[in-house]
Formats: sequence, structure tokens, C-alpha cells
Amino acid sequence: MGKIVIAIDGYSGCGKSSTAKAVAKTLGYTYIDSGAMYRAVTLHFLNEHLSPGNPKDVQRGLEGIDISFQINPDTQKQETYLNGLNVEEEIRTMRVSQSVSEIAAVAEIRQAMVRQQQRLGKKKGVVMDGRDIGSVVFPEAELKVFMTADLETRAGRRQKELMEKGDLVDLEEIKTNLAERDRVDSSRAASPLLKMPDAAEIDTSNLEFEEQVRLIVDLAQKAIQKEKDYAGNH
Ligand code: CDP
Repeated sequence: MGKIVIAIDGYSGCGKSSTAKAVAKTLGYTYIDSGAMYRAVTLHFLNEHLSPGNPKDVQRGLEGIDISFQINPDTQKQETYLNGLNVEEEIRTMRVSQSVSEIAAVAEIRQAMVRQQQRLGKKKGVVMDGRDIGSVVFPEAELKVFMTADLETRAGRRQKELMEKGDLVDLEEIKTNLAERDRVDSSRAASPLLKMPDAAEIDTSNLEFEEQVRLIVDLAQKAIQKEKDYAGNH
């Protein structure tokens, strides 16, 4: 009882995933990385040489795809599987980052992903991050957060993240990719990235990681209390 849905949307690379993961852990909720799903679809299209502009390819691509999440028993971290294969590392490479926004702009692909995301969040007690979670996937989410950070900060953080995985990428290349994804994600016809009027905006440019987690956990606890009060009165 009293479980809620927490929707976290925002620009590329502003720390949504790591923040959402930490919030979920604090609350004992399930974290769902919707971006990983679009990244997995992208990897599938790249591997199979399918074109997002060709309706037949899109249909074929969606028929032949199974995306799931599993907890790695050694690290306790959630990892993404594509047709039974662990693709967690591969979906984070620049090769996938460079094509993902084009794939994610295809309405049929979005419909399939949104259906799966809604199923995963049906029982509540979830934190989901993405671009359209508060607007399309869970418009009734009890807590919506819109995260932002300036481009310089985001690029620096993403470079560090990639470097920790042994992937050396030029800062300018990352900056261009983040800015281009923001542009495509915000201007596409199918569920573009936008800040919902009922979302709390958090600019993380000058926040420590723990501060941004704390801010969202506090908001979540208030929303959970509100749910409990409501249930108590009805
Ligand atoms: O972690 P990062 O901010 O780089 O991106 P992500 O959350 O992994 O998402 C990768 C891409 O997937 C985004 O740039 C969007 O094009 C797309 N996406 C989307 O369209 N809708 C979502 N709910 C989540 C991601």
C-alpha cells in the first residue's frame, strides 16, 4: 500500500539514470531504465542492418526483439538483455549513442516500448527515467521530476563515465552527441521531450550527487505520505 510511480525525465546525460537508481535503492523500489530499451532496439537495428526509415524493416525489427532486465548476482546491478544476450556494455558505446535518437523517433518503435514499460510499472513501486515517462508512459505518476544540467557539466560527467569503462572519447564528440540528441528528442513528432507542468525541475549543474538523490527522495516521501493519507480517508 502507498506505493507510487516516480517519473524522471530530462536531457541526455544529466544524471537521470544514476540518480533514479539511487532513489529506487533508498526507497526499496524497482528501477527501470527506459533509455536502455531504446538503446537495445538501436543495437538490434544496427546489427541486423535494418533501416528505421523503412516500415518493413521496422516491423521486422520489432518482431524479432526481446528486451529484458536482469540483476547481476555478483554486482547486484541491473543489466540489459537483448534476445537473451547481455548487451549492457555495448548499448552504452558511442556507436549506439549516435543512432539511438533516430530510432527512438519512430512512432511504432515507441508504441512497442511504451507498452512494455507500462506493463513493468503496473504494480507501482517503480522509478523510471527517460524522455516521455511523465508525459506518455505514466501521465498519472504521483511524482514527476524534470532534470537538467548545463551541457559542459553533462559532457564532462559522461566522459568520466566512459573513461571508467576504458572508453576514451573526445569531449567535443560527446558534447556534439548530447546536443544533437537533445535537439532530435525535443523536436520529434512522436512524444517529444518536454517538461510537464506538474513536474518538479531540478538543475543538477551545481549539485553533488547525494544532494540530488536526497531532493528526489524527499519529494517521493511526501508523495507517498499523500497517497497513504488519501487511502486512509477513502
Ligand atoms: O543516459 P543518456 O541520457 O545518454 O540517454 P538514455 O536515457 O540512455 O536514452 C538514450 C536515447 O533514447 C535518448 O537520447 C532518446 O533518444 C531515447 N529515449 C527516448 O526517446 N525515450 C525514453 N523514454 C528514453 C530514451
